[in-house]
Amino acid sequence: MWRPPVWPVDKLDSMADPREVLAQRVKDALVAAFGTEYADADPLIRPSQFADFQANVALPLAKRLGRPPREVATELAGHLDLTSVAGPPEVSGPGFINITLHSDWIAAQAGTQLSDPRLGVPVASPALKAVVDYSAPNVAKEMHVGHLRTTVVGDAIVRILEHLGHTVVRANHLGDWGTPFGMLIEHLLDIGEAAAREQLTAGEITPFYQAARVTFDSDPAFAERARRRVVALQGGDAETLRLWQVLVDDSKQYYNTIYRRLGVTLTDADLAPESFYNPMLASVCDELAAAGVAVISDGALCAFPPGFTGRDGGPLPVIIRKSDGGYGYDTTDLAAIRYRIKDLHAGRLIYVVAAEQSLHFQMLFAVARQAGWLTDAVCAEHAVIGLVTGADGKRIRTRTGQPVKLITLIDEAVERAAKVIADRYDDPAQRDEIADAVGIGALKYGDLSVARDSSYAFDFDRMLALTGNTGPYLQYATARIRSIFRKAGLEPGESTGSIQLTEEAERALALVMLGFGSVVGQAAEAAEPHVLAAFLFDVASAFTTFYEQCPVLQAPTDSIRESRLALSALALRVLSTGLSLLGVPLPQRM
Ligand code: ARG
Repeated sequence: MWRPPVWPVDKLDSMADPREVLAQRVKDALVAAFGTEYADADPLIRPSQFADFQANVALPLAKRLGRPPREVATELAGHLDLTSVAGPPEVSGPGFINITLHSDWIAAQAGTQLSDPRLGVPVASPALKAVVDYSAPNVAKEMHVGHLRTTVVGDAIVRILEHLGHTVVRANHLGDWGTPFGMLIEHLLDIGEAAAREQLTAGEITPFYQAARVTFDSDPAFAERARRRVVALQGGDAETLRLWQVLVDDSKQYYNTIYRRLGVTLTDADLAPESFYNPMLASVCDELAAAGVAVISDGALCAFPPGFTGRDGGPLPVIIRKSDGGYGYDTTDLAAIRYRIKDLHAGRLIYVVAAEQSLHFQMLFAVARQAGWLTDAVCAEHAVIGLVTGADGKRIRTRTGQPVKLITLIDEAVERAAKVIADRYDDPAQRDEIADAVGIGALKYGDLSVARDSSYAFDFDRMLALTGNTGPYLQYATARIRSIFRKAGLEPGESTGSIQLTEEAERALALVMLGFGSVVGQAAEAAEPHVLAAFLFDVASAFTTFYEQCPVLQAPTDSIRESRLALSALALRVLSTGLSLLGVPLPQRM
Protein backbone atom coordinates (compact mmCIF):
# COMPACT_ATOMS: atom_id res chain seq x y z
CA MET A 1 0.00 0.00 0.00
CA TRP A 2 1.10 3.55 -0.68
CA ARG A 3 2.82 5.36 2.19
CA PRO A 4 3.01 9.12 2.52
CA PRO A 5 6.37 10.59 1.61
CA VAL A 6 8.33 12.31 4.33
CA TRP A 7 7.79 16.03 4.28
CA PRO A 8 10.52 17.32 2.00
CA VAL A 9 12.24 19.15 4.78
CA ASP A 10 14.59 20.81 6.07
CA LYS A 11 17.69 21.03 7.96
CA LEU A 12 16.28 21.01 11.45
CA ASP A 13 19.47 20.03 13.24
CA SER A 14 20.23 22.17 16.20
CA MET A 15 23.95 22.68 16.53
CA ALA A 16 23.47 23.35 20.23
CA ASP A 17 22.48 19.74 20.72
CA PRO A 18 25.39 17.46 21.70
CA ARG A 19 23.73 14.60 19.85
CA GLU A 20 23.96 16.54 16.60
CA VAL A 21 27.52 17.59 17.28
CA LEU A 22 28.59 14.04 18.09
CA ALA A 23 26.70 12.68 15.09
CA GLN A 24 28.70 14.97 12.83
CA ARG A 25 32.03 13.97 14.39
CA VAL A 26 31.20 10.28 14.08
CA LYS A 27 30.24 10.77 10.44
CA ASP A 28 33.58 12.40 9.78
CA ALA A 29 35.29 9.46 11.47
CA LEU A 30 33.28 6.98 9.39
CA VAL A 31 34.49 8.59 6.20
CA ALA A 32 38.06 8.82 7.43
CA ALA A 33 38.08 5.18 8.50
CA PHE A 34 35.99 3.44 5.84
CA GLY A 35 35.56 5.85 2.92
CA THR A 36 32.94 8.22 1.55
CA GLU A 37 30.40 5.49 0.84
CA TYR A 38 29.77 5.41 4.60
CA ALA A 39 29.07 9.16 4.84
CA ASP A 40 25.34 8.73 5.25
CA ALA A 41 25.31 5.87 7.78
CA ASP A 42 23.33 6.87 10.90
CA PRO A 43 25.86 7.23 13.75
CA LEU A 44 23.16 6.01 16.17
CA ILE A 45 23.94 8.34 19.07
CA ARG A 46 22.02 7.11 22.12
CA PRO A 47 21.99 7.93 25.83
CA SER A 48 24.36 5.65 27.72
CA GLN A 49 24.37 4.09 31.14
CA PHE A 50 28.13 4.44 31.53
CA ALA A 51 28.79 7.73 29.76
CA ASP A 52 26.76 10.68 28.45
CA PHE A 53 26.19 9.09 25.07
CA GLN A 54 27.18 6.08 23.05
CA ALA A 55 27.54 5.69 19.30
CA ASN A 56 26.16 2.33 18.20
CA VAL A 57 26.91 2.51 14.49
CA ALA A 58 29.70 -0.10 14.64
CA LEU A 59 27.15 -2.89 15.09
CA PRO A 60 25.23 -2.51 11.80
CA LEU A 61 28.45 -1.42 10.10
CA ALA A 62 30.22 -4.63 11.10
CA LYS A 63 27.59 -6.60 9.18
CA ARG A 64 28.10 -4.44 6.12
CA LEU A 65 31.87 -4.79 6.34
CA GLY A 66 31.82 -8.45 7.33
CA ARG A 67 34.13 -7.78 10.26
CA PRO A 68 33.80 -8.28 14.03
CA PRO A 69 31.93 -5.31 15.59
CA ARG A 70 34.46 -4.61 18.33
CA GLU A 71 37.22 -4.39 15.75
CA VAL A 72 35.14 -1.96 13.66
CA ALA A 73 34.36 0.10 16.78
CA THR A 74 38.02 0.28 17.72
CA GLU A 75 39.02 1.40 14.26
CA LEU A 76 36.24 4.00 14.19
CA ALA A 77 37.17 5.28 17.66
CA GLY A 78 40.75 5.67 16.45
CA HIS A 79 39.54 8.13 13.80
CA LEU A 80 37.07 9.90 16.06
CA ASP A 81 38.23 13.42 16.84
CA LEU A 82 36.41 14.72 19.91
CA THR A 83 38.91 17.43 20.75
CA SER A 84 37.44 20.16 22.98
CA VAL A 85 34.04 18.41 23.07
CA ALA A 86 34.59 15.19 24.98
CA GLY A 87 37.17 12.91 26.50
CA PRO A 88 38.72 10.05 24.48
CA PRO A 89 36.07 7.62 23.16
CA GLU A 90 35.92 4.23 24.85
CA VAL A 91 34.89 1.01 23.18
CA SER A 92 32.69 -1.16 25.38
CA GLY A 93 30.41 -4.18 25.21
CA PRO A 94 29.88 -5.75 21.80
CA GLY A 95 31.03 -2.58 20.01
CA PHE A 96 29.55 0.54 21.58
CA ILE A 97 31.61 3.70 21.61
CA ASN A 98 31.10 5.55 24.90
CA ILE A 99 31.48 9.30 24.97
CA THR A 100 31.72 11.54 28.02
CA LEU A 101 31.43 15.24 27.27
CA HIS A 102 33.70 17.81 28.87
CA SER A 103 31.75 19.80 31.45
CA ASP A 104 33.39 22.98 30.16
CA TRP A 105 32.07 22.30 26.70
CA ILE A 106 28.53 21.74 28.05
CA ALA A 107 28.83 24.98 30.03
CA ALA A 108 29.94 26.91 26.95
CA GLN A 109 27.08 25.46 24.89
CA ALA A 110 24.62 26.38 27.64
CA GLY A 111 26.00 29.92 27.61
CA THR A 112 25.42 30.11 23.86
CA GLN A 113 21.89 28.80 24.33
CA LEU A 114 21.20 31.42 26.99
CA SER A 115 22.29 34.25 24.71
CA ASP A 116 20.30 32.87 21.77
CA PRO A 117 16.79 34.34 21.57
CA ARG A 118 15.67 31.07 19.93
CA LEU A 119 17.27 28.91 22.61
CA GLY A 120 18.88 26.73 19.97
CA VAL A 121 15.65 26.12 18.07
CA PRO A 122 16.50 26.26 14.35
CA VAL A 123 14.51 28.09 11.71
CA ALA A 124 13.28 25.69 9.05
CA SER A 125 14.78 26.26 5.67
CA PRO A 126 13.02 26.20 3.36
CA ALA A 127 9.88 27.16 5.23
CA LEU A 128 6.94 25.21 3.90
CA LYS A 129 3.20 25.57 3.98
CA ALA A 130 1.19 23.14 6.04
CA VAL A 131 -2.56 22.79 6.40
CA VAL A 132 -3.50 21.45 9.81
CA ASP A 133 -7.07 20.11 9.94
CA TYR A 134 -8.19 19.95 13.57
CA SER A 135 -10.97 20.40 16.10
CA ALA A 136 -13.80 20.11 13.54
CA PRO A 137 -16.83 19.66 15.80
CA ASN A 138 -20.26 19.23 14.30
CA VAL A 139 -22.90 21.96 14.32
CA ALA A 140 -25.79 21.35 16.69
CA LYS A 141 -23.99 18.37 18.20
CA GLU A 142 -22.12 18.61 21.47
CA MET A 143 -18.36 18.67 21.13
CA HIS A 144 -17.19 15.57 22.94
CA VAL A 145 -13.92 14.83 24.74
CA GLY A 146 -12.56 13.41 21.50
CA HIS A 147 -12.92 16.86 19.97
CA LEU A 148 -11.16 18.32 22.99
CA ARG A 149 -8.22 16.11 22.19
CA THR A 150 -8.03 16.87 18.47
CA THR A 151 -8.37 20.57 19.34
CA VAL A 152 -5.59 20.62 21.92
CA VAL A 153 -3.19 18.37 19.99
CA GLY A 154 -3.86 20.14 16.69
CA ASP A 155 -3.26 23.54 18.23
CA ALA A 156 0.07 22.37 19.69
CA ILE A 157 1.17 21.03 16.29
CA VAL A 158 0.30 24.38 14.73
CA ARG A 159 2.23 26.34 17.34
CA ILE A 160 5.28 24.12 16.95
CA LEU A 161 5.31 24.36 13.14
CA GLU A 162 4.88 28.12 13.25
CA HIS A 163 7.68 28.50 15.77
CA LEU A 164 9.99 26.74 13.31
CA GLY A 165 9.06 29.33 10.72
CA HIS A 166 6.64 27.29 8.63
CA THR A 167 3.46 28.83 7.27
CA VAL A 168 0.42 27.15 8.73
CA VAL A 169 -3.18 27.25 7.57
CA ARG A 170 -5.48 26.21 10.39
CA ALA A 171 -8.45 24.36 8.90
CA ASN A 172 -11.45 23.87 11.12
CA HIS A 173 -13.45 21.41 9.00
CA LEU A 174 -16.66 22.11 10.88
CA GLY A 175 -19.46 19.61 10.22
CA ASP A 176 -22.15 22.03 9.08
CA TRP A 177 -23.84 20.16 6.26
CA GLY A 178 -25.75 16.94 5.64
CA THR A 179 -29.12 15.28 6.12
CA PRO A 180 -29.54 15.92 9.90
CA PHE A 181 -30.03 19.60 9.12
CA GLY A 182 -33.50 18.91 7.74
CA MET A 183 -34.66 17.58 11.06
CA LEU A 184 -32.76 20.20 13.05
CA ILE A 185 -34.31 23.09 11.14
CA GLU A 186 -37.82 21.64 11.52
CA HIS A 187 -37.25 21.21 15.23
CA LEU A 188 -36.05 24.79 15.48
CA LEU A 189 -39.25 25.95 13.80
CA ASP A 190 -41.38 23.79 16.11
CA ILE A 191 -39.96 25.13 19.34
CA GLY A 192 -39.56 28.66 17.99
CA GLU A 193 -36.46 30.42 16.81
CA ALA A 194 -35.89 32.40 20.01
CA ALA A 195 -36.15 29.38 22.29
CA ALA A 196 -33.88 27.38 20.02
CA ARG A 197 -31.24 30.08 19.96
CA GLU A 198 -31.30 30.42 23.71
CA GLN A 199 -30.79 26.70 24.09
CA LEU A 200 -27.96 26.48 21.55
CA THR A 201 -25.92 29.45 22.68
CA ALA A 202 -26.18 28.15 26.25
CA GLY A 203 -24.52 24.98 25.02
CA GLU A 204 -27.64 22.88 25.56
CA ILE A 205 -26.84 21.23 22.29
CA THR A 206 -27.38 17.60 23.15
CA PRO A 207 -30.98 18.06 24.37
CA PHE A 208 -31.76 20.07 21.23
CA TYR A 209 -30.35 17.40 18.94
CA GLN A 210 -31.96 14.56 20.83
CA ALA A 211 -35.38 16.15 20.86
CA ALA A 212 -35.17 16.57 17.08
CA ARG A 213 -34.08 12.95 16.70
CA VAL A 214 -36.89 11.60 18.90
CA THR A 215 -39.56 13.48 16.93
CA PHE A 216 -37.97 12.41 13.66
CA ASP A 217 -38.12 8.75 14.71
CA SER A 218 -41.64 8.85 16.12
CA ASP A 219 -43.57 11.30 13.94
CA PRO A 220 -43.79 10.38 10.25
CA ALA A 221 -45.19 13.79 9.29
CA PHE A 222 -42.20 15.49 10.93
CA ALA A 223 -39.82 13.08 9.22
CA GLU A 224 -41.41 13.95 5.88
CA ARG A 225 -41.06 17.70 6.58
CA ALA A 226 -37.41 17.11 7.52
CA ARG A 227 -36.75 15.33 4.25
CA ARG A 228 -38.33 18.14 2.24
CA ARG A 229 -36.26 20.59 4.25
CA VAL A 230 -33.02 18.85 3.23
CA VAL A 231 -34.02 19.19 -0.41
CA ALA A 232 -34.80 22.88 0.11
CA LEU A 233 -31.44 23.38 1.85
CA GLN A 234 -29.53 21.73 -0.98
CA GLY A 235 -31.57 23.66 -3.52
CA GLY A 236 -30.48 26.92 -1.92
CA ASP A 237 -33.91 28.07 -0.67
CA ALA A 238 -33.29 31.44 0.96
CA GLU A 239 -35.42 31.04 4.11
CA THR A 240 -34.04 27.54 4.71
CA LEU A 241 -30.51 28.82 4.37
CA ARG A 242 -31.28 31.58 6.85
CA LEU A 243 -32.54 29.06 9.42
CA TRP A 244 -29.51 26.84 8.79
CA GLN A 245 -27.28 29.85 9.36
CA VAL A 246 -28.93 30.43 12.72
CA LEU A 247 -27.99 26.92 13.78
CA VAL A 248 -24.43 27.34 12.51
CA ASP A 249 -23.91 30.76 14.10
CA ASP A 250 -25.16 29.76 17.50
CA SER A 251 -23.07 26.60 17.58
CA LYS A 252 -20.07 28.58 16.42
CA GLN A 253 -20.53 30.98 19.28
CA TYR A 254 -20.51 28.07 21.71
CA TYR A 255 -17.37 26.54 20.21
CA ASN A 256 -15.65 29.91 20.31
CA THR A 257 -16.41 30.17 24.02
CA ILE A 258 -14.63 26.86 24.49
CA TYR A 259 -11.67 27.85 22.31
CA ARG A 260 -11.20 31.12 24.21
CA ARG A 261 -11.53 29.37 27.55
CA LEU A 262 -8.89 26.81 26.54
CA GLY A 263 -6.58 29.35 24.97
CA VAL A 264 -6.83 27.65 21.58
CA THR A 265 -5.72 29.81 18.65
CA LEU A 266 -8.67 28.98 16.35
CA THR A 267 -10.84 31.89 15.23
CA ASP A 268 -13.72 32.27 12.77
CA ALA A 269 -11.14 33.07 10.11
CA ASP A 270 -9.95 29.45 10.32
CA LEU A 271 -13.35 27.98 9.55
CA ALA A 272 -13.44 26.05 6.32
CA PRO A 273 -16.59 24.09 7.11
CA GLU A 274 -17.99 21.30 4.99
CA SER A 275 -20.39 23.72 3.25
CA PHE A 276 -17.40 25.76 2.05
CA TYR A 277 -16.68 22.98 -0.42
CA ASN A 278 -20.22 22.68 -1.82
CA PRO A 279 -19.48 24.75 -4.94
CA MET A 280 -16.53 22.46 -5.76
CA LEU A 281 -18.24 19.08 -5.46
CA ALA A 282 -19.63 18.82 -8.99
CA SER A 283 -16.26 19.56 -10.54
CA VAL A 284 -14.56 17.04 -8.26
CA CYS A 285 -16.95 14.40 -9.60
CA ASP A 286 -16.37 15.47 -13.20
CA GLU A 287 -12.62 15.49 -12.81
CA LEU A 288 -12.50 12.06 -11.19
CA ALA A 289 -14.89 10.60 -13.76
CA ALA A 290 -12.95 12.10 -16.67
CA ALA A 291 -9.68 10.73 -15.30
CA GLY A 292 -11.26 7.30 -15.03
CA VAL A 293 -10.64 7.27 -11.28
CA ALA A 294 -14.38 7.14 -10.58
CA VAL A 295 -16.98 4.99 -12.30
CA ILE A 296 -20.72 4.49 -11.98
CA SER A 297 -21.55 1.51 -9.82
CA ASP A 298 -25.17 0.72 -8.88
CA GLY A 299 -26.11 4.23 -9.94
CA ALA A 300 -23.54 5.87 -7.67
CA LEU A 301 -20.27 7.43 -8.73
CA CYS A 302 -17.54 5.50 -6.93
CA ALA A 303 -13.79 5.22 -6.83
CA PHE A 304 -12.20 1.89 -5.99
CA PRO A 305 -8.66 2.69 -4.86
CA PRO A 306 -6.43 -0.35 -5.29
CA GLY A 307 -5.52 -2.33 -2.20
CA PHE A 308 -8.75 -1.77 -0.26
CA THR A 309 -11.07 -4.71 0.03
CA GLY A 310 -14.17 -5.36 2.10
CA ARG A 311 -14.91 -8.40 4.26
CA ASP A 312 -16.15 -10.33 1.23
CA GLY A 313 -12.87 -9.66 -0.57
CA GLY A 314 -14.56 -7.31 -3.04
CA PRO A 315 -13.15 -3.83 -3.75
CA LEU A 316 -14.16 -1.16 -1.24
CA PRO A 317 -15.77 1.95 -2.75
CA VAL A 318 -15.32 5.60 -1.93
CA ILE A 319 -18.76 6.97 -2.74
CA ILE A 320 -18.28 10.22 -4.55
CA ARG A 321 -21.87 10.87 -5.60
CA LYS A 322 -24.78 8.88 -4.24
CA SER A 323 -27.31 7.36 -6.62
CA ASP A 324 -29.81 10.10 -5.64
CA GLY A 325 -27.27 12.73 -6.73
CA GLY A 326 -26.32 13.73 -3.16
CA TYR A 327 -22.83 14.15 -1.81
CA GLY A 328 -21.42 12.98 1.51
CA TYR A 329 -18.46 13.27 3.84
CA ASP A 330 -16.08 11.57 1.37
CA THR A 331 -16.83 13.98 -1.46
CA THR A 332 -16.32 17.00 0.76
CA ASP A 333 -13.00 15.67 1.93
CA LEU A 334 -11.89 15.00 -1.65
CA ALA A 335 -12.76 18.58 -2.55
CA ALA A 336 -10.86 19.76 0.52
CA ILE A 337 -7.72 17.84 -0.33
CA ARG A 338 -7.75 19.10 -3.91
CA TYR A 339 -8.33 22.66 -2.69
CA ARG A 340 -5.54 22.46 -0.13
CA ILE A 341 -3.02 21.19 -2.66
CA LYS A 342 -4.07 23.01 -5.83
CA ASP A 343 -5.33 26.32 -4.44
CA LEU A 344 -3.52 26.71 -1.14
CA HIS A 345 -0.32 25.07 -2.48
CA ALA A 346 0.31 23.22 0.75
CA GLY A 347 3.35 20.98 1.01
CA ARG A 348 2.07 19.10 4.02
CA LEU A 349 -1.44 18.13 5.06
CA ILE A 350 -1.98 17.00 8.63
CA TYR A 351 -5.37 15.63 9.65
CA VAL A 352 -5.65 15.56 13.42
CA VAL A 353 -8.64 13.24 13.62
CA ALA A 354 -9.82 10.25 15.66
CA ALA A 355 -8.35 6.81 14.99
CA GLU A 356 -11.74 5.45 13.91
CA GLN A 357 -11.44 7.48 10.71
CA SER A 358 -8.14 5.88 9.65
CA LEU A 359 -9.60 3.91 6.78
CA HIS A 360 -11.41 7.00 5.55
CA PHE A 361 -8.14 8.91 5.30
CA GLN A 362 -6.15 6.06 3.80
CA MET A 363 -8.72 5.72 1.04
CA LEU A 364 -8.99 9.47 0.61
CA PHE A 365 -5.22 9.78 0.12
CA ALA A 366 -5.22 6.85 -2.28
CA VAL A 367 -7.92 8.43 -4.46
CA ALA A 368 -6.19 11.83 -4.33
CA ARG A 369 -3.04 10.11 -5.47
CA GLN A 370 -4.81 8.35 -8.34
CA ALA A 371 -6.27 11.70 -9.35
CA GLY A 372 -2.78 13.16 -9.49
CA TRP A 373 -3.51 15.80 -6.85
CA LEU A 374 -1.35 14.16 -4.23
CA THR A 375 2.18 13.78 -5.56
CA ASP A 376 5.50 12.92 -3.97
CA ALA A 377 6.05 16.61 -3.41
CA VAL A 378 3.23 16.68 -0.88
CA CYS A 379 3.09 14.89 2.41
CA ALA A 380 -0.39 13.90 3.58
CA GLU A 381 -0.77 12.30 6.96
CA HIS A 382 -3.48 11.28 9.35
CA ALA A 383 -2.23 12.31 12.81
CA VAL A 384 -4.17 9.60 14.58
CA ILE A 385 -5.92 10.54 17.82
CA GLY A 386 -6.71 7.79 20.32
CA LEU A 387 -9.75 7.48 22.49
CA VAL A 388 -10.33 9.34 25.74
CA THR A 389 -12.38 7.18 28.07
CA GLY A 390 -13.80 7.47 31.57
CA ALA A 391 -11.99 5.81 34.47
CA ASP A 392 -13.91 2.61 33.62
CA GLY A 393 -12.43 2.49 30.14
CA LYS A 394 -15.79 3.37 28.58
CA ARG A 395 -17.10 6.56 27.05
CA ILE A 396 -17.33 9.41 29.58
CA ARG A 397 -20.96 9.88 30.64
CA THR A 398 -22.86 11.76 33.30
CA ARG A 399 -24.77 9.84 35.97
CA THR A 400 -27.87 10.01 33.79
CA GLY A 401 -25.96 8.42 30.92
CA GLN A 402 -25.58 11.60 28.85
CA PRO A 403 -22.28 12.43 27.14
CA VAL A 404 -20.40 14.94 29.31
CA LYS A 405 -20.40 18.52 28.08
CA LEU A 406 -16.94 19.77 27.41
CA ILE A 407 -17.51 23.02 29.23
CA THR A 408 -18.44 21.01 32.34
CA LEU A 409 -15.10 19.22 32.21
CA ILE A 410 -13.25 22.51 31.86
CA ASP A 411 -15.16 24.06 34.77
CA GLU A 412 -14.51 21.05 36.93
CA ALA A 413 -10.78 21.09 36.18
CA VAL A 414 -10.61 24.74 37.27
CA GLU A 415 -12.72 24.13 40.40
CA ARG A 416 -10.54 21.26 41.45
CA ALA A 417 -7.39 23.28 40.76
CA ALA A 418 -8.76 26.01 43.02
CA LYS A 419 -9.04 23.46 45.84
CA VAL A 420 -5.49 22.26 45.26
CA ILE A 421 -4.04 25.74 45.65
CA ALA A 422 -6.74 27.23 47.96
CA ASP A 423 -4.73 27.31 51.16
CA ARG A 424 -1.89 29.26 49.58
CA TYR A 425 -3.74 32.37 48.49
CA ASP A 426 -5.93 34.76 50.44
CA ASP A 427 -6.66 37.15 47.61
CA PRO A 428 -9.62 35.63 45.76
CA ALA A 429 -8.84 37.38 42.46
CA GLN A 430 -5.31 36.10 42.44
CA ARG A 431 -6.52 32.64 43.42
CA ASP A 432 -9.03 32.53 40.56
CA GLU A 433 -6.44 33.58 38.05
CA ILE A 434 -3.99 30.93 39.18
CA ALA A 435 -6.67 28.25 39.45
CA ASP A 436 -7.67 28.97 35.89
CA ALA A 437 -4.13 28.53 34.57
CA VAL A 438 -3.56 25.43 36.68
CA GLY A 439 -6.88 23.78 35.81
CA ILE A 440 -6.70 24.48 32.07
CA GLY A 441 -2.99 23.67 32.06
CA ALA A 442 -3.60 20.34 33.78
CA LEU A 443 -6.35 19.44 31.34
CA LYS A 444 -4.35 20.33 28.24
CA TYR A 445 -1.04 18.93 29.42
CA GLY A 446 -2.76 15.73 30.57
CA ASP A 447 -3.76 15.23 26.98
CA LEU A 448 -0.52 16.37 25.36
CA SER A 449 1.73 14.24 27.54
CA VAL A 450 0.19 11.03 26.18
CA ALA A 451 1.25 9.79 22.74
CA ARG A 452 -1.57 11.13 20.60
CA ASP A 453 -2.49 7.78 19.11
CA SER A 454 -2.85 5.95 22.43
CA SER A 455 -6.06 5.89 24.40
CA TYR A 456 -6.08 7.09 27.96
CA ALA A 457 -8.54 7.22 30.82
CA PHE A 458 -9.57 10.73 31.79
CA ASP A 459 -8.64 11.19 35.44
CA PHE A 460 -8.75 14.56 37.22
CA ASP A 461 -6.63 13.37 40.15
CA ARG A 462 -3.85 12.18 37.92
CA MET A 463 -3.73 15.27 35.71
CA LEU A 464 -3.87 17.69 38.67
CA ALA A 465 -1.16 15.96 40.73
CA LEU A 466 1.69 18.23 41.76
CA THR A 467 4.28 15.53 41.12
CA GLY A 468 4.91 13.36 38.09
CA ASN A 469 4.52 14.20 34.42
CA THR A 470 1.68 16.70 34.87
CA GLY A 471 0.91 20.27 33.90
CA PRO A 472 0.93 21.53 37.51
CA TYR A 473 4.36 19.95 38.14
CA LEU A 474 5.85 21.80 35.18
CA GLN A 475 4.05 25.01 36.06
CA TYR A 476 5.31 24.68 39.62
CA ALA A 477 8.92 24.36 38.43
CA THR A 478 8.61 27.67 36.58
CA ALA A 479 6.93 29.33 39.57
CA ARG A 480 9.82 28.23 41.79
CA ILE A 481 12.32 29.81 39.43
CA ARG A 482 10.35 33.05 39.37
CA SER A 483 10.32 33.08 43.12
CA ILE A 484 14.11 32.70 43.27
CA PHE A 485 14.44 35.78 41.09
CA ARG A 486 11.85 37.70 43.12
CA LYS A 487 13.83 36.99 46.26
CA ALA A 488 17.03 38.07 44.52
CA GLY A 489 15.33 41.27 43.41
CA LEU A 490 16.18 40.46 39.79
CA GLU A 491 14.36 39.85 36.53
CA PRO A 492 15.20 36.44 35.03
CA GLY A 493 16.10 38.20 31.77
CA GLU A 494 18.83 40.14 33.57
CA SER A 495 20.74 37.00 34.31
CA THR A 496 23.56 36.66 31.82
CA GLY A 497 26.24 35.34 34.14
CA SER A 498 28.71 32.83 32.80
CA ILE A 499 27.78 29.23 33.43
CA GLN A 500 30.18 26.91 35.26
CA LEU A 501 29.33 23.32 36.04
CA THR A 502 30.81 21.85 39.17
CA GLU A 503 28.00 19.83 40.72
CA GLU A 504 26.52 16.78 38.96
CA ALA A 505 22.99 18.25 39.21
CA GLU A 506 24.11 21.44 37.44
CA ARG A 507 25.78 19.45 34.70
CA ALA A 508 22.74 17.21 34.21
CA LEU A 509 20.37 20.18 33.99
CA ALA A 510 22.53 22.02 31.45
CA LEU A 511 23.01 18.89 29.35
CA VAL A 512 19.33 18.03 29.08
CA MET A 513 18.36 21.57 28.11
CA LEU A 514 20.72 21.56 25.14
CA GLY A 515 18.36 19.11 23.41
CA PHE A 516 15.55 21.67 23.14
CA GLY A 517 16.09 22.65 19.51
CA SER A 518 16.25 19.09 18.24
CA VAL A 519 13.20 18.06 20.21
CA VAL A 520 11.08 20.86 18.77
CA GLY A 521 12.21 19.73 15.31
CA GLN A 522 11.33 16.10 16.06
CA ALA A 523 7.92 17.03 17.45
CA ALA A 524 7.23 18.95 14.23
CA GLU A 525 8.43 16.24 11.89
CA ALA A 526 6.37 13.53 13.55
CA ALA A 527 3.49 15.86 14.48
CA GLU A 528 3.87 14.53 18.00
CA PRO A 529 3.63 17.14 20.74
CA HIS A 530 4.11 14.49 23.44
CA VAL A 531 7.78 14.26 22.46
CA LEU A 532 8.16 17.88 23.52
CA ALA A 533 6.10 17.26 26.67
CA ALA A 534 8.38 14.37 27.68
CA PHE A 535 11.43 16.57 27.14
CA LEU A 536 9.99 19.38 29.26
CA PHE A 537 9.26 16.91 32.03
CA ASP A 538 12.91 15.84 31.93
CA VAL A 539 13.98 19.47 32.20
CA ALA A 540 11.61 20.12 35.12
CA SER A 541 12.84 16.97 36.88
CA ALA A 542 16.48 17.96 36.37
CA PHE A 543 15.66 21.41 37.66
CA THR A 544 13.97 19.98 40.77
CA THR A 545 17.06 17.91 41.59
CA PHE A 546 19.29 20.93 41.00
CA TYR A 547 17.04 23.07 43.20
CA GLU A 548 17.17 20.52 46.01
CA GLN A 549 20.92 19.98 45.83
CA CYS A 550 22.40 23.29 44.80
CA PRO A 551 21.51 26.41 46.80
CA VAL A 552 21.17 29.31 44.38
CA LEU A 553 20.90 32.47 46.47
CA GLN A 554 23.05 30.96 49.25
CA ALA A 555 25.67 29.61 46.86
CA PRO A 556 29.21 29.32 48.29
CA THR A 557 30.69 32.03 46.04
CA ASP A 558 29.42 34.96 44.00
CA SER A 559 30.45 33.41 40.72
CA ILE A 560 28.64 30.15 41.52
CA ARG A 561 25.59 32.18 42.51
CA GLU A 562 25.74 34.00 39.15
CA SER A 563 26.14 30.73 37.33
CA ARG A 564 23.21 29.11 39.14
CA LEU A 565 21.03 32.13 38.47
CA ALA A 566 21.95 31.87 34.79
CA LEU A 567 21.09 28.16 34.74
CA SER A 568 17.78 28.89 36.45
CA ALA A 569 17.01 31.65 33.97
CA LEU A 570 17.76 29.28 31.09
CA ALA A 571 15.52 26.61 32.61
CA LEU A 572 12.70 29.14 32.96
CA ARG A 573 13.00 30.19 29.34
CA VAL A 574 13.17 26.63 28.01
CA LEU A 575 10.19 25.56 30.12
CA SER A 576 8.05 28.58 29.37
CA THR A 577 8.83 28.57 25.66
CA GLY A 578 8.17 24.83 25.50
CA LEU A 579 4.90 25.10 27.41
CA SER A 580 3.74 27.95 25.22
CA LEU A 581 4.41 25.76 22.17
CA LEU A 582 2.10 23.23 23.77
CA GLY A 583 -0.46 25.95 24.53
CA VAL A 584 -0.21 25.34 28.28
CA PRO A 585 -0.78 28.57 30.24
CA LEU A 586 1.67 29.60 32.95
CA PRO A 587 0.70 31.27 36.22
CA GLN A 588 3.26 33.80 37.45
CA ARG A 589 3.05 32.29 40.93
CA MET A 590 1.75 29.07 42.30
N1 ARG B 1 -16.47 16.55 11.95
C1 ARG B 1 -15.77 15.32 11.97
C2 ARG B 1 -16.09 14.53 13.23
O1 ARG B 1 -16.56 15.09 14.20
C3 ARG B 1 -14.28 15.49 11.91
C4 ARG B 1 -13.74 16.12 10.65
C5 ARG B 1 -12.29 15.87 10.46
N2 ARG B 1 -11.73 16.49 9.29
C6 ARG B 1 -11.91 16.08 8.04
N3 ARG B 1 -11.33 16.74 7.06
N4 ARG B 1 -12.64 15.03 7.75
O2 ARG B 1 -15.88 13.35 13.26
